[in-house]
Amino acid sequence: MHSGRYIILKKYINEKFPHITHGGDYNPDQWQDCPEILSEDMRLMKLANCNEMTLGIFAWTALEPEEGKYDFSFMDKAIDDIYKAGGRVVLATPSAARPAWLAKKYPEVLRVRNDGVRIHFGERHNHCYTSEVYREKVREIDRKIAERYKDHPALIAWHISNEISGECFCPKCQAAFREWLKKKYGTLERLNKTWWTSFWSHTYTDWEQIEAPSPLGETCTHGLTLDWKRFVTEQSTDFMNVEIAALKEFTPDIPVTTNYMNFYEGLDYRVMSKSLDFISNDLYSDWQGDERVDIEVAKDAAMCHDLMRTLKGKPFMLMESTPSMVNWKGVNKPKRPGVHELSEMQAVAHGADAVQYFQWRKSRGCSEKFHGAVVDHVGHENTRVFREVSRLGERLKKLDDIVGTLTEAKAAILYDWVNDWALKDARAFHPWDKKLMKTVKSFYSPLWENGIDTDIIGVEDSFEKYRLIIAPMMYSISEGLAEKLEGFVKQGGILLATYMTGMVDENDLCYLGGLPCGRLKEVFGIWNEEIDSLFPEEKNRVLLKDGTAVTAVDYCEVIHADKAEVLATYDSDYYKGMPAATVNKYGDGKAYYIAFRDTGEYTDMTVKALLGEAGICSGFDGELPQGVTAHTRTDGEKTFVFLQNFSYSPKSVKTEKEWRVFETGEKLTGEFEIEPLQTIIIYEP
Ligand code: GLA
Ligand code: ZN
Repeated sequence: MHSGRYIILKKYINEKFPHITHGGDYNPDQWQDCPEILSEDMRLMKLANCNEMTLGIFAWTALEPEEGKYDFSFMDKAIDDIYKAGGRVVLATPSAARPAWLAKKYPEVLRVRNDGVRIHFGERHNHCYTSEVYREKVREIDRKIAERYKDHPALIAWHISNEISGECFCPKCQAAFREWLKKKYGTLERLNKTWWTSFWSHTYTDWEQIEAPSPLGETCTHGLTLDWKRFVTEQSTDFMNVEIAALKEFTPDIPVTTNYMNFYEGLDYRVMSKSLDFISNDLYSDWQGDERVDIEVAKDAAMCHDLMRTLKGKPFMLMESTPSMVNWKGVNKPKRPGVHELSEMQAVAHGADAVQYFQWRKSRGCSEKFHGAVVDHVGHENTRVFREVSRLGERLKKLDDIVGTLTEAKAAILYDWVNDWALKDARAFHPWDKKLMKTVKSFYSPLWENGIDTDIIGVEDSFEKYRLIIAPMMYSISEGLAEKLEGFVKQGGILLATYMTGMVDENDLCYLGGLPCGRLKEVFGIWNEEIDSLFPEEKNRVLLKDGTAVTAVDYCEVIHADKAEVLATYDSDYYKGMPAATVNKYGDGKAYYIAFRDTGEYTDMTVKALLGEAGICSGFDGELPQGVTAHTRTDGEKTFVFLQNFSYSPKSVKTEKEWRVFETGEKLTGEFEIEPLQTIIIYEP
């Protein structure tokens, strides 16, 4: 018997298909004159233990060869064949690449660059998202597809467009931006004030004077840049919503997604996610076969998966990954034997209920002909890559109990797109690279090494379920967020923040009256007077209370510990002896502040100590050797621990508990070994 909690803690991408989805992008439209290849695909799909194909991503011309003339024959056959072979389909809308006839007839669908030049037909991901014509044409084709396949039992999800990205600077987008601003600000006076346009006499006296930021025009009005980025997110989402509405008209119950690109900086995924039923992501990690590098790659990948899981607090799809290599990096290395299973199981460990590839079969021509695929040009199943995919598929089939399970993280890292944009724009400190993502990663790293489940949260997420929140370089903090952080600490939370906290508001206006902003001065018990930016070769030393010295690089904030306890001090320069790290008891919680950028050592030891203080531990009880980590998923009753060895040598771990191996039922206790690149899933019976 399962308790009520069991039901609450499972969330499915599509309850009608409660299995790990295993498959990928399939382009039968490229092989229409090769029927033998198409039937071979079905044989191979079963052999590869795939149960899904994503169809139609770039198939617009095949579906609508002439305006208003549709031909669904290839898709009808593909969907039926896949279903007969036991598979399901994720159907894509084709809006990411348009037919040549469409671009020729309606040039307004083509994007305009920020230098005002309209692009020519070609490539993809380059349509104007405001053009009424493009919206209408997309709506028509989407409705046709949805109407035709709405009742097909193979259809499990909709995939909107592909990797929505980029900006359009055409007159229609500029006009839409001005309308967006009018709605936001009401009056020009308010806009001018918020953007501080009296600076350099850039005050607008007519809405028509406002243009999107451009290297040919305005780049100094940071409020404008932030609003433009917000607008791009909202306009792209609005375009996506047109597509979603077209599909939902026919299939209200089929879940919709669009494939994200990790921490892609151009769009605030938290805003877009509100329109989606589930999240999916494309991840092409840089596995190199070098243990030292790959452990870092593993951390980067883990952080991306955690973001995707947190965006909707439910399982996500790894929509694209490569079974071997890509074709667009500086050096395109195939994954070493065993890495594929490890990397895809890592996605599952962090909350993916789908493991999918770009691409099923290598195309014969054009730019992606050498990109890795499940089926190589050689055409048969006797390849290393195919065997690895097939072996993984065999394993994924046994994971039905894990599908829908969730992760209950007690630790969170705050990452906010608006903050990222504002920080990048700030012409100060190290203007061209302030290394926000590197800093976020430096805090994530010890969490990963200690096997701690971590959510990557945004400013609007609830903070209640966390005991520890790490907020690296939260330069832009609204008054509301400052209050929320205060509330979190007051109620017993542990907050860790760094240099550059709370310097500007959500419009990039500097806070007056001392830093960090507003009540955060009380919360941290400090006042930040100035920031010293260090030259690349420059260093300072920071002395901890026990006499240990660590290294400060890049940034040393000169802070005053008004109420806070000083944990470390600078060892040289005009701020020698002044606080470099502090802690302040506030309400029932504590607020830690690290005023300098360290080389990793201090971050590691601080995070580890705070985990102890917050009472947060790994799902696995034993110590984790280098390269080994543990992450969990739970149905509320049973917690599955994914132990993964990202190193190229066997590692031994010790446990006080009695575990069962999920797939074999074998008992595990005391000391045991994890093979190189192995994933073991265990639970306590
Ligand atoms: C992206 C795209 C795919 C393909 C892959 C190649 O993720 O969505 O269509 O081009 O890159 O790695
Ligand atoms: Zn446009």
